[in-house]
Amino acid sequence: MKIAIACDHGGFALKEQLLPFVTELGYEYKDFGCFSAESVDYPDIAFSVAEDVAKGEFDRGILICGTGIGVSICANKVNGIRCALCGDILSAELTRKHNDSNMLAMGGRIIGIETAKAIVRTWLTTEFEGGRHERRVQKINSYK
Ligand code: RB5
Repeated sequence: MKIAIACDHGGFALKEQLLPFVTELGYEYKDFGCFSAESVDYPDIAFSVAEDVAKGEFDRGILICGTGIGVSICANKVNGIRCALCGDILSAELTRKHNDSNMLAMGGRIIGIETAKAIVRTWLTTEFEGGRHERRVQKINSYK
């Protein structure tokens, strides 16, 4: 599974802590920055990564800003993206099972590293359930 990871300054510290954990889990990722805590505009980063996921260059994307809200709003504007803002493990599990989310957003100023690790592990390892959820996801996908 190819994973793209990116953040703004509000998510920088959490992203840096998460990268070794993603490797530990056995996944390869591309880090799209940012690469310091200097202020950047999260839409620039979120749109670019979401476009790459939508084009199929990556299977999944993980975005982190201060709250996770800004990056998730941006990602969900890109056709083909289903980005779930998660602050708890159950949401991470259910968004994979029910929404087949292909992007995960988290808030670096909202959750701590242990919660973030549990969310990432759950989100990366939980399969889409299909069935009745397939029809609903198709309805999302076909909306222009
Ligand atoms: C940046 O200060 C902050 O607005 C951003 O990280 C994010 O929380 C936006 O939703």
